[in-house]
Amino acid sequence: MSKIKEALLRAKSERKQTDDMSLFKRPPVFQESRHQTKVVDYSEVAVVRNKIITPYFDNPELTNQLKLLRTKILQETQKFDDRTILVTSTLPGEGKTFLVTNLAITFAREVDQTVLLVDVHLYHACVTQVFGIEQERGLTDYLLHDVPLPELLIRPGIEKLTLLPAGAPVEHSAELLRSQKMRQLIQEMKNRYADRYIFFDAPAVLSSVDTIVLTEYVDKVLFVVASGYVKPSQVSEALNRLDKNKLLGTIINKKIS
Ligand SMILES: Nc1ncnc2c1ncn2[C@@H]1O[C@H](COP(=O)(O)OP(=O)(O)OP(=O)(O)O)[C@@H](O)[C@H]1O
Ligand SMILES: [Mg+2]
Repeated sequence: MSKIKEALLRAKSERKQTDDMSLFKRPPVFQESRHQTKVVDYSEVAVVRNKIITPYFDNPELTNQLKLLRTKILQETQKFDDRTILVTSTLPGEGKTFLVTNLAITFAREVDQTVLLVDVHLYHACVTQVFGIEQERGLTDYLLHDVPLPELLIRPGIEKLTLLPAGAPVEHSAELLRSQKMRQLIQEMKNRYADRYIFFDAPAVLSSVDTIVLTEYVDKVLFVVASGYVKPSQVSEALNRLDKNKLLGTIINKKIS
């Protein structure tokens, strides 16, 4: 990115942050420093088992598809600075965590991009699991108990990628995710760094209202459809529940061996 573009984006981001702060009249919460975030390296066995693109697992076709997807997403989102992207599907098990994790890594490999991957699947958290990282605390600890975010963020040993785990499962997750605190958090995640994309690994639309609640707070939604797994009528039902204006696109997920 050119220096001028970078400066303009930074100025825009700072201006927005000031506006947001006055709107919510709360002190900024997202005070993490990239250099202070805890590093917990991923497990080689886990990334191979879960097909997560790393030096230990590579699949050229998958890598190329993900790069193509990254290019398309960048083209579609840069114009309006849409950097908060939620990934969902119709039913559980369609490959959301697999795709969003590999996509986040693919974005982090881009020179200009840093990435935050947030697990918002509060009753079936998986993002740390695919990396083989044990972390019990996360987003719910921030939302419920005000645990400072820097204590919850993890760097999994992949350059420019940071994770915010889900934390302990909670009842009434929709109410928690609908809170002003969550809304402010998402805005601050976005405003703190102009070069950062934030991906959210969310539950399936037909299995949890949490996803619909969260789509209000993010810029865009990516919809995963597992090939040959879900009925067209179910896909239509799920799509009907989503805000069409936020739909960035649909990804057909075919299992690789
Ligand atoms: N394209 C793919 N190739 C190979 N394995 C895949 C692919 N997509 C998903 N999988 C595997 O399928 C299983 C389910 O995928 P995943 O956990 O990503 O689904 P999910 O949509 O996140 O499920 P949930 O709704 O329960 O969170 C995992 O074991 C994952 O590794
Ligand atoms: Mg998942």
